[in-house]
Amino acid sequence: MEPAKFSIGLGNNDAKIRSDASKDYVEFWASQAKRLSWFKAWDTTLEWNPPFARWFVGGKINASYNALDIHQNQKDKPAILWEGENEERHTITYGELFSDVQKVSNGLKSLGVEKGDRVTIYLPMVPEIMVAMLACARIGAIHTVIFSGFSAASVHDRVVDSQSKIIITADGGYRRGVIVKLKEVVDAAIENLDFVQNVIVLRRTKIPISQNKKDLFWEDIVRDSPDVCGAEPLESTHPLYILYTSGTTGKPKGVLHDTGGYLTHLHSTFRWAFDIKDSDVYFCTADIGWVTGHSYVAYGPLLCGATQVMYEGAPDYPSQSRMWDILQRYKVTIFYTTPTALRMFMKYGDAIPNSFDLSSLRLLGTVGEPINPEVWKWYFRTIGKDKCPIIDTWWQTETGGMMLSPLPGLETIPLKPGSATFPIPGVDIAVVDDAGKETLPDTKGYLVIRKPWPGMLLTLWGDDEKYKSVYWSKYSGFYYTGDYAIKDGDGYFWLLGRADDILKIAGHRIGTAELESSLVSHRGVAEAAVCGIPHEIKGEAIIAFLVLKEGIKVSETLQNEVMSKVRSDVGAIATPQQIYFVSKLPKTRSGKIMRRLLRAIASNEKIGDVSTLEDGAAVSEIQAAFDDIKNQIS
Ligand code: PRX
Repeated sequence: MEPAKFSIGLGNNDAKIRSDASKDYVEFWASQAKRLSWFKAWDTTLEWNPPFARWFVGGKINASYNALDIHQNQKDKPAILWEGENEERHTITYGELFSDVQKVSNGLKSLGVEKGDRVTIYLPMVPEIMVAMLACARIGAIHTVIFSGFSAASVHDRVVDSQSKIIITADGGYRRGVIVKLKEVVDAAIENLDFVQNVIVLRRTKIPISQNKKDLFWEDIVRDSPDVCGAEPLESTHPLYILYTSGTTGKPKGVLHDTGGYLTHLHSTFRWAFDIKDSDVYFCTADIGWVTGHSYVAYGPLLCGATQVMYEGAPDYPSQSRMWDILQRYKVTIFYTTPTALRMFMKYGDAIPNSFDLSSLRLLGTVGEPINPEVWKWYFRTIGKDKCPIIDTWWQTETGGMMLSPLPGLETIPLKPGSATFPIPGVDIAVVDDAGKETLPDTKGYLVIRKPWPGMLLTLWGDDEKYKSVYWSKYSGFYYTGDYAIKDGDGYFWLLGRADDILKIAGHRIGTAELESSLVSHRGVAEAAVCGIPHEIKGEAIIAFLVLKEGIKVSETLQNEVMSKVRSDVGAIATPQQIYFVSKLPKTRSGKIMRRLLRAIASNEKIGDVSTLEDGAAVSEIQAAFDDIKNQIS
């Protein structure tokens, strides 16, 4: 592993934060929470009934109030500098955002939405997505945003699980020059769902849509609703949102976040990691449909009153230089993106970023997947011109906010390309072996979190048992992240990818079980197994192995049908790169698919240490299965 170099400081050195946090983490988080505006102070900072944590119990707070009302002394400050795909540009100030949110809150109230009701938001990356979330938060409705690339079947499952009363969508959204017909997807998703009372439609593209009895238009709601809507004082533990994410079982899990703890975590990490100043122009490229968009596009920046760029569409459309053009035009100072995007930009060549003025940049970040050291160094040199610290931030939908990251807003540490460095103050993270014992330096183990933290999920929506079994059953008393990691001799953490059956495709989390259940639902497929193999840009790509039913023949039509089945069940991001048809799947004696063996086959590797990694199968059996499948697909 590389020695530490790349030590770029931003002049901050607040050692007290770390020393306070190490004395008493509960007291420490209480001191951080005081930076937010509370309607009523809490009685108990942490109620910890393992594995359920409740932060700031008895306190009353509102997320929309902390994102908007408190910034009205600078109402003309831009909150969002928005870029549409077709070069439309708007600036939305804190004053304008405040006024739109109140109207939409009143509109929701007039439709009978009450505290605790669920509202599904299925919108493209337009400022209204932020307005819709904050409007829900203002009245205590629980928002559940679904990424606008998901299919009707995925939307259906999520709406049914959350029992959303209202859906907010758009006629369509732009993506790579094509209009994605979102309203059409929603119509198909909610057919026969009587509990959905209304669909609010934003006319984004003005394409014709079919109109149903339940439909209302966003524009009418904004025009007809009263201007003023006070923020509801909500219990700190009141759920702010549900965000569905892939798990190891077939159905996505509804990760449920609270209000007070989550806001405290974001307010703290946004300042520590990004060193945010009033004059900064921040740009996070995440879509709001994923957790990074919730935490570091929607809530984090607004809580801190930041100005940010938000864009619609794809990072390299209409041109490969789109990102650098945006950075130059808005004089972006802080840029937060994904390793997948960086790998793509790097492939396009240095000449493109080199032809733009990127001198406004002072801090760079990455999130969502491990970053290869060579990509890290390219980011540092070609984009940051050797003067910007890079924060490699490790966290998850479940953690709510960053857990491991350099924090240039607090301190200067030597960086190591490819390492997410150290835990943030007030969290306790370790790498442990199967028995839960900390591993020796440089030894691979599982990443666990040993104490509750404020951004921690409350539970899985409607399923406390699953919450306990997914995160708390592997180790007693530790939260299991599902990630492999190493802690080196200097205490730096290195993330090594998922230890469970979850794939990371272009940073998006996709469960193998979800994919396999879609594949086997095709009439011709008897059995299916998928695995991820390394991909130059996306990090991982999906490979599927299928066993067909008796009498079904392999054909191009069949292959296309299977691909489109996955696209319509899960979404385009889950499309396999390659499908192999085989006569049987390699399984252990207990019936578990030997996924690592499939991965070795698909990536043309030697069988290597696969044999030691699979339980319940003899080495000879594994070798035979390996040879058998290899022969069939070659
Ligand atoms: O495997 C880790 C990977 O992404 C997983 C969480 O995915 P998700 O809930 O979709 O949230 C992504 C955005 C926070 C983790 O379990 N991951 C996330 N950040 C990193 C990472 N892997 C390596 N390095 C990171 N910085």
